[in-house]
This record gives sequence, structure tokens and C-alpha cells, in this order.
Amino acid sequence: MCGIVGAIGPMDYKPFLTGGLRKLDYRGYDSSGLAFWNDGKISLYRALGSVDNLASIVPDRHPGSAGIAHTRWATHGGVSVENAHPQRSWDKKVYLVHNGVIDNFEELRAWLRERDFSFRSDTDTEIIASLIAYYLSEGERPLTAIKKTMERLDGSYALAILFSGIPGLYFAKNKSPLVIGLGIERINCLASDYAPLMDVCSDFTAPEDGTYGLLTGNAVFAFRGGKNIPLSFEPRNREDYTFDLEGYPHFMLKEIAEGPKVIRHAVSANFDAKTGYLFEQSIISSLRAADEIVLLGCGSSHYAAEAGAAYLNRSGFRAVSYIASEWIHGLYPRSRKPVYVLISQSGETADLISCLDLIDGEGRSVAIVNAKDSTIARRSDHVIYIGAGLEVAVASTKSFLGQLAILMLLAGALRHDDAVPLKLLDAATSVEEVIRRKSEIDTLASECYTARDAFFVGRGMDYFASEESSLKLKEIAYVHSEAYPGGELKHGPIALIEEGVPVFAFIGNPELGKALRSNVQEMMARGAASYIVSSSSSAREGDGFVYPAVDPSFAVFPEVAFGQLLAYSLSLRRGLNVDKPRNLAKSVTVN
Ligand code: M6R
Repeated sequence: MCGIVGAIGPMDYKPFLTGGLRKLDYRGYDSSGLAFWNDGKISLYRALGSVDNLASIVPDRHPGSAGIAHTRWATHGGVSVENAHPQRSWDKKVYLVHNGVIDNFEELRAWLRERDFSFRSDTDTEIIASLIAYYLSEGERPLTAIKKTMERLDGSYALAILFSGIPGLYFAKNKSPLVIGLGIERINCLASDYAPLMDVCSDFTAPEDGTYGLLTGNAVFAFRGGKNIPLSFEPRNREDYTFDLEGYPHFMLKEIAEGPKVIRHAVSANFDAKTGYLFEQSIISSLRAADEIVLLGCGSSHYAAEAGAAYLNRSGFRAVSYIASEWIHGLYPRSRKPVYVLISQSGETADLISCLDLIDGEGRSVAIVNAKDSTIARRSDHVIYIGAGLEVAVASTKSFLGQLAILMLLAGALRHDDAVPLKLLDAATSVEEVIRRKSEIDTLASECYTARDAFFVGRGMDYFASEESSLKLKEIAYVHSEAYPGGELKHGPIALIEEGVPVFAFIGNPELGKALRSNVQEMMARGAASYIVSSSSSAREGDGFVYPAVDPSFAVFPEVAFGQLLAYSLSLRRGLNVDKPRNLAKSVTVN
């Protein structure tokens, strides 16, 4: 999703702004732009495609004493230079960059049209610039114009704003991430996350929703509802935001390789062999007291939630999982005393934040999040950090394993089961073995990389590994892929099986293996090219890939590692951008 960077003070702006955008490019984008403020005049540059395209049209050592920049992931209006940010008001008084979505922009556009405003783009962002310009034209000063504009906006936004002829870098924030950094040498900065600011800032703050204000080179002023509010700044650990491939060709491969470490970290951070589980006691007590544990997430995090809910159920606790963007529509029953577990790598997923909007105030939310101090972490009543380290590739890999490990540890803590950490350590070893045998998966990929469709099947917990692997294939390799519980195939999907369609079958549970093998036979009889991925305790001769057996409930870990590597390998074979697949964003900050 869109990313913003801005700064004010003496510096060379082009490398700072374009470098900052590159550090946000994991979020996904299709155009970019920047603007410099110099002696009251604003110059604007925008380009389609990569930040390199933008850098190529911006002169080196461009003069300026403030600057804003943006990567755009198109929502309102197609991918075009006119729709790229910064957007400006028709009178060119207000230039701004925006991350978020304005829900009532059509109504506001009509209102502005009635007042003779014209527009150059199809974006909701131009409406914000125009509304601020309207209030300026009514004689308001910039901060009041911003405040009055915020009162009219429905939706989400993090804004960085420059005014022609008026010094200062202005900002406003509601429901979209924004970080402000105190610069080291008479500069102050802001961005969508910490990464672009780490080289030039010492201390940071993430303002609350509804905050707006002004950065100068020497100070930061913040307001809410017209009142000046104090901001507290804290240092951050630079290593947490470092992007380094460490010799790997892609971040996705590096992050898959870190999977075993992430599982082990989840164990060591939350369990001590002498004293037992280390989770906050208040989290455990509220989960125990709940009549239902409701797990919410999107995409891979939803699949982790599904597997976690199944394991919690198996452990004797009532748990359900829902897709966050569906749960908010109120179709599902709400129990009397639920506890909500919100699962997210980025901690910024708008669909999950919408769930928090409904849950807030009940004192019953637990976030399982990777990104420190992210919105979901800050807004939930309790937070458990995954500790997977920065995940750069758009596809979730290590963070999925970390999320599931934490959920299983929570189940272990709830029923005082000290075997869970040991089973997870076994799973980490099994994942390591899958990764060590990557070349076998590469060979498999070389045999099926031209396939247009694929199926993943499993039964019981193995089905969740199928779902996650299937998602990986879609998003990284652009292969149409379906995941089904083995028993469900004959109820419809089998009609899609044609000669040569690859079917990947996961068998981590020997007891369910027999039934799944029958399902695979049914597919093969109709021409499918089957490939069975089994644990050493479920394996039979002829299976395609056999991984070291773990407790059947934990087979999801090595199976998903297999699926991740298969998607990675297929993506490369198909000549695709593994780390930044088309149309996707790492941090999905729109509903
Ligand atoms: O940051 P989150 O975990 O909340 O993100 C949720 C999904 O957008 C995310 O898992 C998405 O499905 C990934 N691209 C999967 O690889």
C-alpha cells in the first residue's frame, strides 16, 4: 500500500526521499512522486513504475528546505502520472501525499465543484488538498485549515503537506500509520514506518489517530481537536529495521530460511524449561475465562488463525476463526464472554483494525503481531510479539510459522502442557530438513512450472497447510490454485481435473493418510499429476517428498515450508518478481 516520507531542515533531499521510498517499496506500489519546498516555491516530480524512474527525472542536489515523497498503490483512479502523488489543489497552494482512503470523497468533490473547484486527477487525495485550499481561501491559517478538513473527512489518512509560500512540513493522521522522527542535525522527519528514518533520526513517536501538526527543523508541534498535545519520543533499535539480503538472492528465500529460527525464538521467548510458560498471566487468565476464543486475521494470518483455532479446540478450548473483513459484517454469533485474538504480521492491516473498532473498550483483545508498536499492537489490550524480525518480501513466510507457533504455545499454556514447546522444536528441525532439500523442490518446480492450475489437498490439520501453500502459489507464481479438504473434492472440484493438472497432497497424520490417498487416486484416475508430501511416519513408497515426522498437529510447519519453497521456485522459473508480486502490498492499509 502507499508509503509516505517527508522531512524538513538542511539536507540533500533527493537521496533521502528516493532512498526512503525504496525502504518502503516492500509495501507495493505502481507509481511514485516527490515535491521540494524551496524559498516558498514547490517543485513536483512524478513517474510511473519504479522509484528508479522517479529518480531519473529528479535533478541531483535539488535545492530545498523541505520535501515530501510517496509510493502509490492505486485505489481511486488508475495508474497514471496525474493520479500519482503528491497531489495539489487546483490553485497550487497545497501539495500533499496521502496513505489511506477517503470514503466520502465523491460527496466532498461535488461540494467543492459547487464552489468552482476543478480537479486534475481521479483521486480521493486531490479532494483533501482542495478542501484545505478552500479553508485557506476562507482566511484560515494552515493548522486550522487542516483541522477543519479533518472534521469533514470520513476514512483513513496519513498526510504530509506542504504549502506554497508558507514554511513548515504539516501532517495529519487517522487510521493510517505515521511515524515522526527527531532528526540528528536540525532536521525532523516523518514516514509510514521507521525504516526510512533510521539513518537520520534518533527518537521516534507514532501519533494517535486524530492528531495533526507541524514539523520545523527544530521542533514538532502536535494538536488534537484544536488543543496542543505533548508527544513522547523514544529511541529505536536500528537493527530491527535493517534490510540486508545477507547473501541470499531474494528476501523471500532468506525469510523462508529463517523459519526454524523464528519457531525456536517463539519457544524461548514464551517458555522456560524450569518455570514454564512466560505469557503475561492476565492474557492466560482472560483466555481461560472466555466462553469463546475468536481468532481474526486476513490472508496467511487467517490461515494461521484457522490452524490455531483447530489446535485450541483439540486442546479443549472453544475457538473459532474468521476472516477479519467478513467478521465485521455481523453475520456471526457473538458469545457472551469472548476474547478476540488479532493476528497480523504488519500490525497495520485495515480490515483487522476495523475489527478493533468494534471490539475496542471491551478489554478483551490480544494481538499477535510482528511489527513493534504497530497500530494493532498499540490498540489491543494485550500484545504478544512474534519476534520474527523484519519481513520484507510481500509473501508472508517466517511470520506465518511464528504466528502459528505462538498460537500453539498459547494452547499449551492454557492446558499446562509442557510437551508443546518440545513438539515445536521438533517441527523447527523438520522445517530445517525441508529447507536443506530445496534442490528436490526445485526439480519438482522444473517439471510443473508451465501448469496453469494446481490443487493442494489435505485432511485435518494438513488442510491448513494446503490453504497456505495454495495462497503462496497464487501470489508469487501467479498459478491459479485451489485448496480442498481431501473429502470435499468429489463434491464438485474434481470436475476441474484434466490431464496433467498438478495435485499436491499433504499427509502429516498417518491416521488420515489412507483416506487422503484414496482421494488422490480418484484425481489420478482422471489424469491429475499427483505429488504426495508425507511425514516419515505416514510415508509410502512412491511419495514425492518425505519430511522428518513430527506430532501430526505440527506437520503444518514442514508442509508449509515445502509450499513456500515450491512457490518460490515456480516464481523464479516463470521469471517473476518473487519479492514484489504484482498488485500486492506487504501492508494492506485499505479496507
Ligand atoms: O500483515 P498481515 O499479517 O495482517 O497481512 C495479512 C495479509 O494481507 C497477508 O497475510 C497476505 O495474505 C500475504 N501476502 C500472504 O503472503
